[in-house]
Amino acid sequence: MKVLVIGSGGREHALVAAISASPSCSEVVCAPGNPGVAQLARCIATDGSVDDLERLARREAPDLVVIGPEVPLVGGLADRLRAADIDVFGPGADGAQLEGSKWHAKELLLEAGVATAKAQHFTDFEDARAFVEAVGAPIVVKADGLAAGKGVVVALDVETAVEALREALLDARFGAAGASVVLEECLEGPELSVLALVSGSDIRVLAPARDHKRAHDGDMGPNTGGMGAVCPPADADDDLLELVEREVLRPVVDELVRRGVDYRGVLYAGLMLTADGPSVIEFNVRFGDPEAQVVLPRLRGDVALLLQAAARGELADAPAFEWDDRVAVGVVVAAEGYPLAPRTGDAISLGDVPRDTRDAIVFHSGTTLDADGALRTAGGRVVTVVGFGDDVDSARAAATAAASRVHFDGAWHRSDIGAALMSPALR
Ligand code: AMP
Ligand code: GLY
Repeated sequence: MKVLVIGSGGREHALVAAISASPSCSEVVCAPGNPGVAQLARCIATDGSVDDLERLARREAPDLVVIGPEVPLVGGLADRLRAADIDVFGPGADGAQLEGSKWHAKELLLEAGVATAKAQHFTDFEDARAFVEAVGAPIVVKADGLAAGKGVVVALDVETAVEALREALLDARFGAAGASVVLEECLEGPELSVLALVSGSDIRVLAPARDHKRAHDGDMGPNTGGMGAVCPPADADDDLLELVEREVLRPVVDELVRRGVDYRGVLYAGLMLTADGPSVIEFNVRFGDPEAQVVLPRLRGDVALLLQAAARGELADAPAFEWDDRVAVGVVVAAEGYPLAPRTGDAISLGDVPRDTRDAIVFHSGTTLDADGALRTAGGRVVTVVGFGDDVDSARAAATAAASRVHFDGAWHRSDIGAALMSPALR
């Protein structure tokens, strides 16, 4: 089959790698892709708009479209392609609202009886400020809509929370996405990302992963898009996964079905493992980045066929998932200044990093080719280096060794991805 992948990051590089290695796949194209993807697939330029993506998908006439990022999903690209009789992996705009509006997700979770942080919804700055002053800190301030991973502030004091409210509601820092905010109870515990393939009422849970969102070692520093991930984390056993499927994913999928939503794609539960059990802090409607870079390389078999089965609503008939026994640790090599003001344009040398061996793989995230064909940095997260090992420590050692061979001015990375988390009290 011919597969079109939409997106340009490390997640899409991992998707293209898994799909192009699938026996059922004869051709992969990617819009727009990146220089790493271009080694595996034909890349097509796009302005990224839903109109342009629809046009090029109709022109390419693939057997399957896999939509990587949330923006085109929330914008209804999957609906438009289904209307053109193209199989699409990714929910329509109705299902994508689980990520497109945090308040919509919260209401759905409450309706479904799923444990989630307590929350309130505000559009008026003074009302929101009065609420924060009444309940105090810590408190989490979230832009309701899509904010490219930058719309969440975990405020440890009231002043920080009020400042975040001011930026969202008065200064329109996130535009319409921040014209309404969700104020949420601050939960404590390790985080866990549980992703599942879903078609209609069928759920196939993928191997769990943990993203490390803070910039620096010891889970310190500002929140980022994710500095690395591990799959599976040592503390996520089968009992926990069964609990998450039974008490989080199943009720949410049943509620979607009850609402008439025919969801086909990834459902991603972002969880906090609190002392009282797993509690949902967010839902995403796509693979995570960098979770995809550690989950997909461990998935054995014909990944393109699995995604096609979900796209066609035939997940129940798909073969059981099989996993590589090894642990995968992905380390993001970031540009100087990330996440606040990443510097771009620096020449990159991946010289002696093997592109894909049994021990390490490099996925491109923010890279570009200059006029002379040389690789340069083009984003805050530049590459994700994934290492494999029999346990978390050896996988991390393989990833870190490969990451330290990636050279560009200002390159840095965490060295403790997948390590046991520090107690919050020690931070
Ligand atoms: P998000 O952009 O929704 O992925 O949130 C970014 C990060 O903010 C999460 O990965 C958590 O580390 C943190 N966060 C979100 N919600 C909460 C919450 N209710 N309590 C504590 N931390 C949270
Ligand atoms: N890794 C978090 C996300 O993709 O949203």
